Amino acid sequence: MATLTGVRKAYGDNVVYASVDFEVERARASRLVGPNGAGKSTLLRMVAGVLPFDRGERTLGTHVAVHYYAQHQLEALTPSLTVLEELERAAPELGQTRLRTILGTFLFSGDAVEKKIAVLSGGEKARVALAKMLVRPAALLCLDERPTTSTTAPRARCSRERSRRFRAQIVSSSPTTAISSIGSRPRSSRSAAGRS
Ligand SMILES: Nc1ncnc2c1ncn2[C@@H]1O[C@H](COP(=O)(O)OP(=O)(O)OP(=O)(O)O)[C@@H](O)[C@H]1O
Ligand SMILES: [Mg+2]
Repeated sequence: MATLTGVRKAYGDNVVYASVDFEVERARASRLVGPNGAGKSTLLRMVAGVLPFDRGERTLGTHVAVHYYAQHQLEALTPSLTVLEELERAAPELGQTRLRTILGTFLFSGDAVEKKIAVLSGGEKARVALAKMLVRPAALLCLDERPTTSTTAPRARCSRERSRRFRAQIVSSSPTTAISSIGSRPRSSRSAAGRS
């Protein structure tokens, strides 16, 4: 579905990947695991196509739409809109009933969808930003977790169910420190943690 082959990536003298092969398989949620600075975000951004690399190749399956989620997505939300309006703007064709159902899976039920973006907590905003990505046609979601993101654990737990429900493929990253709180053994990428 998305493949990196023989990819080299360096920031100046810091060679993060000398030659990495990485494949995102269909019908699997993948998680990159490694300590801070191991190269998870770098790999994820290269897979998503938002970071150029020095050498090697990136190939995408046909008709694969890629969405990349990172913290800056939160700034793309409109403070004056309600949660429901924000989603309607992204996918007006789905209709309010369907959008409310989707928001329910992101833990916004009943009156919560009428809350203004401006008053939401960081974690709530993150959930709206994710919901927005998932209402658009998406085949591959690249989620870059931040060590400070309070939603890390619940999001990891839900990501498999959501990927089934929305027929999206998810690749996400987690710093090693967050893993123990998740409790399940993640599928790791040696290449991210081991700097191949
Ligand atoms: N834009 C950049 N310029 C220079 N060096 C960078 C840049 N981005 C990342 N690096 C370096 O590349 C290495 C890998 O960084 P990366 O952000 O991919 O790590 P990470 O595994 O995502 O870490 P974290 O768990 O802290 O998010 C680090 O040594 C980092 O300092
Ligand atoms: Mg990172």
